[in-house]
Amino acid sequence: MPATVITGLQWGDEGKGKISYLLCRDADCVVRFQGGANAGHTVIASGRKLKFNMLPAGSAAGATPCIASGTVVDLEEVFEELELLKSIGLGSGFMISRAASIVLPIHKKLDAMVEEIRGGRAVGTTMRGIGPTYSDKALRTGIKIEDILDKDSLVDKLEVLRKLHGLEVENPGKLIEYGEKIRPYVGDVELFVNDLLDEGRKVVFEGAQGTLLDIDHGTYPYVTSSNTIAGAACTGCGVGPTRINEVVGVMKAYSTRVGAGVFPTELSGELGDRIREVGQEFGTTTGRPRRVGWLDIPLLRYAIRISNVTWIAVTKLDVLSGLEKIKICVKYDLDGRILEIAPPSVRLLQRVKPIYIELEGWGEMTEDDWRRISERGWDALPEEAKTYIEAIERHTGSPVKLVSVGAEAGLEVVR
Ligand code: IMO
Ligand code: MG
Repeated sequence: MPATVITGLQWGDEGKGKISYLLCRDADCVVRFQGGANAGHTVIASGRKLKFNMLPAGSAAGATPCIASGTVVDLEEVFEELELLKSIGLGSGFMISRAASIVLPIHKKLDAMVEEIRGGRAVGTTMRGIGPTYSDKALRTGIKIEDILDKDSLVDKLEVLRKLHGLEVENPGKLIEYGEKIRPYVGDVELFVNDLLDEGRKVVFEGAQGTLLDIDHGTYPYVTSSNTIAGAACTGCGVGPTRINEVVGVMKAYSTRVGAGVFPTELSGELGDRIREVGQEFGTTTGRPRRVGWLDIPLLRYAIRISNVTWIAVTKLDVLSGLEKIKICVKYDLDGRILEIAPPSVRLLQRVKPIYIELEGWGEMTEDDWRRISERGWDALPEEAKTYIEAIERHTGSPVKLVSVGAEAGLEVVR
């Protein structure tokens, strides 16, 4: 499959990094097309743990990393991650679009200011300056990669930003320095990627965040500031929709959410704490504890629908081991009306009552158990785990082709 889009089906943190790594092992190129350093994608492979905020995690598998125009770029992060990749012989051919937007210190300040003004309605952002950078882009007052390659125009543009926000802006000298450092990597990512596709080469588009955080299709205003659904690969990287061959939807075996906002299947108390501890559900970018809950089929069905997901990768199934019973919310009750698919509208989700089915859990397992199962394949999974995955397939109507049972590459079952 030459063009594969990876998209998160929940509120982010679905384990897209590992899945991207797996799918990139035979890819030529991997592209970040939206979002910025709010993403936290981790790859554990060949005895190494690599964390990515800006570069695509799939570059750990040797695919050429690209950052396309639809992103908001934290340059220091790019330099750091590129350095790291180079130190282990990876990242060659890295290309960044001249049209990608740059996150400036002023955007991080504004991020904090907006959150403070919102008070009790704060979104709980990652404070990476994502929203303000995208809003400056939409206002046409943003600074793009090409701007830091040209001092005169940069000074004028920074002056506009200073007047607009009434805050001190970055010193142009520093940005020009960054410009010189990034210059060798700046290119027409969009043309490069389309040419690769013409040649029949495999390109993976690595989405960040998840469907429910999409600015148009998520639980607005508790969302991020970009489109995160599969279609965003087309707009963010200039590839036509008919170019995309498959969309891989990544979902965790349970739900999590960082930051504020409605969460119908949220678990509180001991069970929630247990899943949080076992699943190490603390933000990779911010360290915040994540809220956890059962799977939510009405929202998953919506996510699968709007990205036209080809197949699903389920991650962190191992975390549910040792639970006596596992619940899945298969429908909502909205004042007596049954909903099987639900748009992520905050108003709607505040009123629904989840209707659960209850499945049998399976016993405690060690990492060695999962390793053996990974080697032997699907049949080796505990019966109850197979039943759980089959329930996901039945209720979402989408095939599960990959089940991840540990953070490390190699701990997964392929069907
Ligand atoms: P990955 O790619 C989980 C959440 C933040 C906050 C909201 C807005 O690792 O799945 P922002 O800083 O984007 O303005 O914050 O979105 N958020 C994420 N949650 N994983 C992410 O990325 C996220 N990126 C943003 O917690 O609720
Ligand atoms: Mg994250």
